[in-house]
Amino acid sequence: MRSCNLKTTIYFEGNALSRLAALEYKTVFIIADPFAVSSGLIQAVTKHLEAAQIEYTVYSDVVPDPSVEKVVAGVNALLREKAPCLIAVGGGSAIDLAKSVRLFAHNLHPDYTPYFIAIPTTSGTGSEVTSFAVITDTQENIKHALIDDFLLPNEAILDVEMVKSVPASIAADTGMDVMAHALEAYVSTEADYFSDMYAEKATSLCKHYLVRSYHYPKTHENKAREKMHIASCFAGVAFNTVSLGICHSIAHQLGAQFHIPHGRANAIALPNVIAFNAEITEKTFVLSNPSPCVSKYANMSRRIGLIAYDDIACVKSLAYFIRSMQIEMGMPVRVRDAIPEVSIDEYESKLDAMAEAALLDRCTETNPRVPTKADIIELFREIW
Ligand SMILES: NC(=O)c1ccc[n+]([C@@H]2O[C@H](COP(=O)([O-])OP(=O)(O)OC[C@H]3O[C@@H](n4cnc5c(N)ncnc54)[C@H](O)[C@@H]3O)[C@@H](O)[C@H]2O)c1
Ligand SMILES: [Zn+2]
Repeated sequence: MRSCNLKTTIYFEGNALSRLAALEYKTVFIIADPFAVSSGLIQAVTKHLEAAQIEYTVYSDVVPDPSVEKVVAGVNALLREKAPCLIAVGGGSAIDLAKSVRLFAHNLHPDYTPYFIAIPTTSGTGSEVTSFAVITDTQENIKHALIDDFLLPNEAILDVEMVKSVPASIAADTGMDVMAHALEAYVSTEADYFSDMYAEKATSLCKHYLVRSYHYPKTHENKAREKMHIASCFAGVAFNTVSLGICHSIAHQLGAQFHIPHGRANAIALPNVIAFNAEITEKTFVLSNPSPCVSKYANMSRRIGLIAYDDIACVKSLAYFIRSMQIEMGMPVRVRDAIPEVSIDEYESKLDAMAEAALLDRCTETNPRVPTKADIIELFREIW
């Protein structure tokens, strides 16, 4: 028996943020990305609270890849106010910080369970609909994925106004994160009808709108930004129940050790992970005993219009297509291009620890091919 539970209420399309004016709380605690505060973007949220005479505090001690220390500081700030409603405004970093702060505040004060609304300002993590939060241990340079139903927001508000200011390079990084979520969920060992449906739609939206969303600052094509915002949410729904795979386990290491933005790290690893999972290299033309993920990747490839001769050619097409999107969006395609200041010797010196940590990452449990430590080290070397 399987189950599929979509708990978060999602508000989307036309002025979705106006939903906030109907909140019945007298006070709200907002955890916001500092960019949202400094740029004034936060006013798109607060103006509705003001109109409804709801008092609010804005807390913006948020950094990319939030650390354990930032969670502790956030818990103290939230518990000082104990507002009945918590709103997260920002990318995955702000939302994950808010999720973790709420969880630990509740653990310390079990009677305190603030209503939780997530308002994403990037189109990437899908964190607004997931029970995941990623927190970085800056002492050990490890990213920990917390997984707990309590992390799931009660509401998500998807309003394109919040993502229009996203610069092209961040649209590229975050959009490739969507692609990685959808494809990893699609071949997860836990994949089911529901996750497949969301993953297929998310990947198809990426195929049609990711590069257009990247060009948005020049073209002002709202539609592409809107579609990627929905794609991000769909991919979040897909991986929330069936989890991810080793592309994320590898990306978590590259983020924790070298601060490569999450989506950029996923984009670099994704084509190599597809090849690894499918056991297909450029020279593969026949597979005597193909893994079930070969037909899944091939199916996805066909669904998004990458028609090729047979399953093996379709899988290769999918991997090439991901690379070509990266190139079109001016993204680094190798680790060494993403971190030019790091030498190969320094990278090599960290491979053993990174591979150990990647194997222990919870995303590895649902990868379609069980990797050994040597496999992960080899993948890290391939993508250097
Ligand atoms: N919880 C989950 O399910 C999940 C899934 C994937 C990734 N993550 C985590 O989320 C984090 C990454 O989140 P992200 O990719 O959204 O990036 P992010 O939240 O770290 O933001 C990246 C940068 O974009 C800026 N930014 C955000 N919104 C903007 C806007 N509207 N206009 C201009 N600039 C804006 C931020 O200030 C920041 O400098 C990582 O820590 C990753 O591990 C979580
Ligand atoms: Zn991700």
